[in-house]
Amino acid sequence: MSRVDLAELDFFSAEVQECPFHVYRQLQDEAPVWQMPGTNVFVVTRYNDIREVIRDPGRFSNNFSALLNAGSSNKEVSAIYEQGYEMVETLLTQDPPRHRVYRNLVNKVFSNKRIEGMRPFIETMTEELIDQWIDEGEVDLLNRLCVPLPIYVIADQLGVPRSELTLLKKWSDASASRLGQLANEQQQLENARDIVEFQHYFADLIDRKREQPEDNIISDLANNTIDEGRLLTKPEILGMVQQILVAGNETSTNAIAGGVVLLIQNPEEQAKLRANPDLIPGAVEEILRLETPTAGMWRRVTEDAAVGGVDIPEGSFLMVRFAAGNRDESIFPCSGAMQVERDNADSHMAFGQGTHFCLGAQLARTELQIALTTLLRRTDNWGLVEGKNTLEHHPNVLLRGLMDLHISFDKATV
Ligand code: HEM
Repeated sequence: MSRVDLAELDFFSAEVQECPFHVYRQLQDEAPVWQMPGTNVFVVTRYNDIREVIRDPGRFSNNFSALLNAGSSNKEVSAIYEQGYEMVETLLTQDPPRHRVYRNLVNKVFSNKRIEGMRPFIETMTEELIDQWIDEGEVDLLNRLCVPLPIYVIADQLGVPRSELTLLKKWSDASASRLGQLANEQQQLENARDIVEFQHYFADLIDRKREQPEDNIISDLANNTIDEGRLLTKPEILGMVQQILVAGNETSTNAIAGGVVLLIQNPEEQAKLRANPDLIPGAVEEILRLETPTAGMWRRVTEDAAVGGVDIPEGSFLMVRFAAGNRDESIFPCSGAMQVERDNADSHMAFGQGTHFCLGAQLARTELQIALTTLLRRTDNWGLVEGKNTLEHHPNVLLRGLMDLHISFDKATV
């Protein structure tokens, strides 16, 4: 791949985002902490530098909402948001010590025991989704497994009936689009309408769960007290649910879809999993490393600092590029190659690290393991359907995910 002129590089352009890996490598070699020309944004690409940044929330804050709200300076958009609930910083965009108050509660709500208890439901859903197309020989895998599976799982826990799943998907997409910051004005208006609709729907649901508690995540959020000895307010719960939707749906969908493509492109690695399914949990880590569905995240610099020997003034923004760190050759040799038996694959930073380490990591791993195990067991001879796959990704600054995935397959003979 040709080297790019860093003085001219438009890092967030659709072109670079579609195929970023040679740019990551060049930045790691030549400018591992690189200031985007004419901006106060620094892109951090080396594993150890990213690690240092994300483990220091004092100097590198997650309160980057100013960046997200920049797009809603449009008066019509703001007027729509005014009809909804206040957006409270809870998890992703909150810093310690306040972050801890919320995180302690959701850690309990997302306990290992609860996620383990969700396993039979995830298995049943996966089987049911595959039953619907197993005799067809070809499937739009993205829309008939990768998208619905995480939504079914989270909908069950959020108390949303199946008949309303399309709404949940619409709200999740709107929230992800807002986070991705590439929406045009028309989309910003639609996003605002969808997000406000989401807020009112869940505000009613919270009232109902307070009257009639159940054993699920929404009920726990509505009824458990935080360390301050009070229930969460509605805007606080809405903020959390919105993050759970965005952080949990898109990313898991993208990891399953990206994983299947990787296995099609690496038939020898796929054969190892078919021969020995015990390798699947390790393969999931390798898929997470290579796909890194949350390609990057923002940090706001709270005081003059230096990272990787580069001075960074207070008020700058860092783009910590997890996807680049996960291909740092000094940590993962032959980093672009898929090796399902790579011994340090689980050192990847696809779930972040430290204070904001992904709340849903165990759930996502469980979903991925079940989806791949079931697909490999029930289908064989995977191929990409010619003419139906662009293998391009949705334009998004933070999240990376395929736009289409149609595969051909044989029904496995058991
Ligand atoms: C493959 C799937 C997933 C990936 C790659 C992923 C990735 C990440 C990353 C990188 C972060 C850290 C962001 C930062 O450092 O600023 C994060 C945080 C978070 N994730 Fe995930 N995630 C996934 C699935 C999920 C699921 C299934 C849920 C919930 C159902 C979830 C909920 C969250 C939440 C709430 C946070 C914020 C935590 C906090 O700030 O304390 N994620 N995720």
